[in-house]
Amino acid sequence: MMSSPAANITSVLKETRKFPPPGAFSAQAHVKSLAEYEKLWQKAHDDPEGFWALQAESLTWFSKWQKVLEWKEPFAKWFVGGKLNASFNCLDRHLVGPRKNKAALIWEGEPGDSRVLRYQDLHREVCKFANVLKGQGIKASDRVTIYMPMIPELAIAMLACARIGATHSIVFGGFSADAVADRNNDAKARLIITADGGWRRGKVVPLKNNVDGALEKSPTVEKCIVFNRCNQQVHMKQGRDMWWHELMMDASADCPAEPLDSEHPLYILYTSGSTGKPKGVLHTTAGYLLGTSYTHRLVFDLKEEDTYWCTADIGWVTGHSYIIYGPLANGATTLMYEGAPNHPREDRFWEIVEKYRVNTFYTAPTAIRAFHKWGDEWPKKHDLSSLRLLGTVGEPINPEAWMWYHEVIGGKRCPIVDTWWQTETGMIMITPLPGAIPTKPGSATRPLPGIEAEIVDKAGNPLAANQGGLLVIRRPWPAMLRTIYGDDERYRKEYWSHVPHAYFTADGARKDEDGYFWIMGRVDDVLNVAGHRLSTMEVESALVHHKRVAEAAVVGKPDEIKGEGISCFVTLKTGETPTEELKKELQAHVVKEIGALARPDEIRFTESLPKTRSGKIMRRLLRDIASGRQTTGDTTTLEDYSVLARLREEEE
Ligand code: WTA
Repeated sequence: MMSSPAANITSVLKETRKFPPPGAFSAQAHVKSLAEYEKLWQKAHDDPEGFWALQAESLTWFSKWQKVLEWKEPFAKWFVGGKLNASFNCLDRHLVGPRKNKAALIWEGEPGDSRVLRYQDLHREVCKFANVLKGQGIKASDRVTIYMPMIPELAIAMLACARIGATHSIVFGGFSADAVADRNNDAKARLIITADGGWRRGKVVPLKNNVDGALEKSPTVEKCIVFNRCNQQVHMKQGRDMWWHELMMDASADCPAEPLDSEHPLYILYTSGSTGKPKGVLHTTAGYLLGTSYTHRLVFDLKEEDTYWCTADIGWVTGHSYIIYGPLANGATTLMYEGAPNHPREDRFWEIVEKYRVNTFYTAPTAIRAFHKWGDEWPKKHDLSSLRLLGTVGEPINPEAWMWYHEVIGGKRCPIVDTWWQTETGMIMITPLPGAIPTKPGSATRPLPGIEAEIVDKAGNPLAANQGGLLVIRRPWPAMLRTIYGDDERYRKEYWSHVPHAYFTADGARKDEDGYFWIMGRVDDVLNVAGHRLSTMEVESALVHHKRVAEAAVVGKPDEIKGEGISCFVTLKTGETPTEELKKELQAHVVKEIGALARPDEIRFTESLPKTRSGKIMRRLLRDIASGRQTTGDTTTLEDYSVLARLREEEE
């Protein structure tokens, strides 16, 4: 259960730097100025349905919709009566012109192998695999689990499902057998697609072994298709398990895309609630495809010749929306990398940027802080001059990390798009348009045209500038989740019951005098110190601003006098030594940056922080440690269990 979201959060972050888009960038951009952005936003505000209907012309329809939006709060149907196919929009429609020979997917394996699939190639493989699925009896009303490494076959499997209308449910390759089984069972999946293994830091992740474990507890799954990536010895159960390459041998490459309803379920993606069982976020076809392609084009200011790289794993929504559906619907070249950023060395990403002359690079703040920690020498070894645009997603980016990204990776010439969105929103919601909106380090800036974001109190009243409160979205948008799979009531309760007639994001934020949004993190994480509600992110930013600090996580711990005390977990930069003196220095530093109010009660040095596999700090677990409690609730998304054990040892 979400803690009751009291409204006002005191903001203490003082960031005044501002970076206008470079003139040459604006001149060639899709949206060229602040005035143009504002006009567009206003137009969408005045006639949202007209606005989205116009945008939807960019998709290819088998038959046109009759109604743009049917809204029965909290349930939306977009482009009612229309028929289309996501796989057709991502592939077939690009085969009629010069794009047919364009690279759709550039892939780099961790061991250094590489493949390029042109639109024609990807189309052929998808058609063949769609026929394989049909051959196994998979139909438009079925769910298929995909549990694969970051290899082209993952993209092929997704698009093949979409082609025949089977709803995919991708489970991140780092999850355990139990997590796979839970998701199989919740979705009632009939088939699972996996690989023998996948490469991660030079080792093989034993995916098929995990699937074997999962399938003992997944009664609905009848068949398992296995791609041979790593030549591992795996157990193949007769009658259930089949090799991908054997099935593909005789598959026909002729498989017309199924005309599907606009609201046909495209995929389910499980996201962990703060407690309890994972939620299956359901996305459907037309609105999702529209939302991701529209935002991918505008936010990344897409050019026909761009080489675009989003470093996320396809197991997360960022990979769904901005490695696969958005870019391919736009006929872009999307790059996909299989492995770790520090394998074999800490410059692997920069080597890839140089090798493929990447133009647009989209990553997460947690990765940026790691690069910063590893040192400037790694990016400096490489020619990064092909980059013209940078992006971030996943967490608030602290200004220090933003500045490093801007200077060292972007060479001070690339705009940075700090994109705020969620698994549930499906598409980017708040972000600078890179040719139009001046950036401020740490702010996701302004809502996209078509998006009505506001900062409100619990009753839904808008708050004044710079008052921290709840971030809500006022109107339905095309790529919004439609429900939690199989649980309409939980959907209503978690998203549409906290604030009257608004979508509750569960994030705290403030809007400054220029209308810029500053996300302060999850409302559940807010500190309550002596009656002041403070954002953990802002105290963390102050710590990371100290020259010896690489990363910090801040949580509240019960304090008899103040309500909550401030407990800080700090990771130092490579080569720095933790001392008692440094603890005092950091406490003083926070007081200097923010004020006595935010003085940390304790500082604990740690080698690493507990994070989800997608890089978000799990403050809930740190709260347990700080207050000496046992950990309860879901820890299945934790990246590295040993971190928790180590933190507890450091405790003793
Ligand atoms: C956080 C990832 C600040 C936020 C696409 C949100 C951000 C949650 C940003 C969703 C950003 C994501 N600035 N915070 N640019 N982007 N978040 O579902 O708390 O993995 O609610 O989707 O991440 O995470 P999810």
